[in-house]
Amino acid sequence: MSTKIQTIGVLTSGGDSPGMNAAIRAVVRTSIFYHRKIFGIYRGYDGLIQGDFTELNAKSVNKILNLGGTILKSARSEGFKTAEGRKQAYEQIRKAEIDALVTIGGNGTFTGAQIFQDEYDIPVIGIPGTIDNDLYGTDFTIGFDTATNTVIEAVDKIRDTASSHNRLFIVEVMGRDAGFIALRSGLATGALAIVLPEDNASYDDLISELERGAANKKTSNIVITAEGNKLGNSFEIASKIQEHFPQIDCKVTILGHLQRGGSPSCFDRILASRLGVAAVEGLLNDKRGKMVGIVDDELTFTDLQQAVKNKAQLDNELLRISKILSI
Ligand code: F6P
Repeated sequence: MSTKIQTIGVLTSGGDSPGMNAAIRAVVRTSIFYHRKIFGIYRGYDGLIQGDFTELNAKSVNKILNLGGTILKSARSEGFKTAEGRKQAYEQIRKAEIDALVTIGGNGTFTGAQIFQDEYDIPVIGIPGTIDNDLYGTDFTIGFDTATNTVIEAVDKIRDTASSHNRLFIVEVMGRDAGFIALRSGLATGALAIVLPEDNASYDDLISELERGAANKKTSNIVITAEGNKLGNSFEIASKIQEHFPQIDCKVTILGHLQRGGSPSCFDRILASRLGVAAVEGLLNDKRGKMVGIVDDELTFTDLQQAVKNKAQLDNELLRISKILSI
């Protein structure tokens, strides 16, 4: 193992996701296990720029495995997008004698990490932490499983009232421009239709799916819309549906940030623990500029650039299955 890296900094950046704390814990404890110093950097890259660091020990991360959010706080840093901001960050890192970074986050986090590594030669390993699951190089990102479980719980409740009133509900879920949350939660809740950003389906396609539901005399209908879909926002979709089916009472629920909170699922805790250990071991084995992930249950290291640039692919088979099962 390399002795070049004696001190590691860890931060969380971008939208928080359940399981980030479990990843922090794994990074901290693995660093200490290998007799390295570990600093927590607060508020993502903003804290890096301002030198908002604290040294952590094994006890600092007691009882956080089960907590949602991130004890290190998070931010979408504008300052780090500037050369001046990154210069300040580098000066802070030098001052604290930090030799390498572990950055936990998504697209924006890794883009910043890659630029920083290129400019200042600081080794960086990224851990995929986002509810969106939109990173290439890992089957799952930390927080996605918990977020989809949260959606399922909410939709099951919505279905109760939808049935009582014979209503159709449009339930909008997050995911930015990716449909992973929508697809999986749609299949898992028996949605009549799922409106995805990756799909080129038209209004006519959606209407015919709904007509099928009407023909089958369904008493409750759920349509899951991904926030980044191409048809429009959920209220526009609802009014188009209402125009076509004036007899249907159509409601909209936007689940919003509740999808980002809550105690991480078992799956996310295990994923975060594995990736946190792998990130530190990767750094100590001279890996840099990589995102650690798990593909087919095997640890992988993907170039940060590839993780961001290449598009994570939706499983079209799940969409096909959901169309068969929602008749
Ligand atoms: O990337 C995670 C995510 O929750 C997206 O699904 C969503 O589009 C975005 O962040 C919301 O960002 P913010 O919390 O900054 O409004």
